[in-house]
Amino acid sequence: MSTPYQQIAIDGPAGTGKSTVAKRVAETLGYTFVDTGALYRCVALAAIEAGLSLEQAEAIGELARGARIRFGALVDGRQPVWLDDVDVTARIRERDVDTLCSPVSAIPPVRAALLDQQRGFAQAGPVVMEGRDIQTVVLPEAQVKVFLTASPGVRAQRRFDQLAPGSATLAEIEHNVRERDERDSSRELAPLRPADDAVHIDTDPLTIDQVTERIVALARERQGGSLG
Ligand code: DC
Repeated sequence: MSTPYQQIAIDGPAGTGKSTVAKRVAETLGYTFVDTGALYRCVALAAIEAGLSLEQAEAIGELARGARIRFGALVDGRQPVWLDDVDVTARIRERDVDTLCSPVSAIPPVRAALLDQQRGFAQAGPVVMEGRDIQTVVLPEAQVKVFLTASPGVRAQRRFDQLAPGSATLAEIEHNVRERDERDSSRELAPLRPADDAVHIDTDPLTIDQVTERIVALARERQGGSLG
């Protein structure tokens, strides 16, 4: 799994800005951003199109192994995705895919197939990846592992600011944030857990740009002569 290219693996609970930060780090360094969630979404879409049901785990795993998924360049935080040469960027965000991608991501043959696909991206060039099992399972040898943290209060406030006025109270959102943390940390499959060698960054007092700068600095610092 060792590669001549630098690997940056970012994780942390929801509301720490990790997707935005991961994309900005990739844009700044000119690395490929691998949207691992989009891979699971593509497999869910392939299963829908093949008319498969969730019980057909092996067949969905087979689809995952055969799926040719490509990512385009990030422009302003948006990234095109192709599944078998069809542009599925918008399609994989639709409701049917949204509903199916979580149970599909719990199918062991799917995770095994996408593990190989994710490592394949890291063999082809320098990458930034964000997600649950990236630091511990997918890229355990990543030179840069960052675990973003933020207090539940700050994360709730960030979420509150994104929602339409009146849709929920700050207290309700904070309650949900704490519940989700508990669920994500205790679930059996790919629980939320930092790698032992991850650098923790507390994002409470920082802007997205400041968090991005820290990770970029860390990446440059750790970049040996032949990397990246
Ligand atoms: O981040 P997202 O909503 O696009 O992720 C889609 C689904 O894939 C979601 O149910 C979580 C799952 N997923 C996963 O199991 N492992 C990852 N590394 C990324 C996403």
